[in-house]
Amino acid sequence: MSAEVKANVKKLTDELKETHGITPGLAVVIVGDDPASRVYVNNKKKACEAVGFISEEYALPAETTQEELLSLVDTLNNKESINGILVQLPLPKHLDDKAVIEAISPLKDVDAFHAVNVGKIMLGEYDFLPCTPAGVMEMLRSYEIPVEGRECVVIGRSNIVGKPMSMLLLHENGTVTICHSRTKNLAEVCKRADILVAAVGIPGFVKADMVKDGAVVIDVGMDRDENGKLCGDVDFENVKDKCSYITPVPGGVGPMTIATLMKNTLAAENINRIL
Ligand code: GUN
Repeated sequence: MSAEVKANVKKLTDELKETHGITPGLAVVIVGDDPASRVYVNNKKKACEAVGFISEEYALPAETTQEELLSLVDTLNNKESINGILVQLPLPKHLDDKAVIEAISPLKDVDAFHAVNVGKIMLGEYDFLPCTPAGVMEMLRSYEIPVEGRECVVIGRSNIVGKPMSMLLLHENGTVTICHSRTKNLAEVCKRADILVAAVGIPGFVKADMVKDGAVVIDVGMDRDENGKLCGDVDFENVKDKCSYITPVPGGVGPMTIATLMKNTLAAENINRIL
């Protein structure tokens, strides 16, 4: 599915180059040397190459100051060849990620993390869809899994996944419950779900006894097991025979997130050009 989305972005990008002589550009900023962030950033760069975008990487040392980072964001906001700006999170602790996100022009905010874009998501008026939740919705659509009127349970309330995911499911008329670390009877709540989205960041957190027979299970986790191997929030081996659909980790939600980022960067080019 992600290859299909990217192929479509490539086709539109080729047309854009031909008709307007324009190549969309994405700037990815990474601060420090978090190994997981490095992998994500490399994958984003690879996807840019595959669809024919310009990709610029700004790899800054861990001791970068807030002023230096804000100054780079300002430069990129004003750089015409750059349509999308993505600052990879998490940032080192001494940096204020909220201030950095708010400094990104909402028109180049391809993560849809800026307050303006978050507000638009609440209202259902999207310039940019939040990448991970939008990738999940695309999977549900593609597999013709209905959301309307069904019990949707999202585990996790992060700004990156849990909150926007819940909003997109709500916009599709799902009956949405958000669970988190203070939720009482979490297993029981999860067991109600027709569609269960796990975004907790704990390896194998969702066990078979938390899943209703025939449920659709979406695993947003990007965790490491005790051997350091990439795994998800769902105990895949034991849950897979219980549910009707399940996404694996790796190879499930992750590639869809990146494909959505490519769509957003192309959309940003359009928005930047029109304005
Ligand atoms: N860190 C983990 N996921 C994401 C993402 O989607 N965007 C950014 N910028 N950082 C992340």
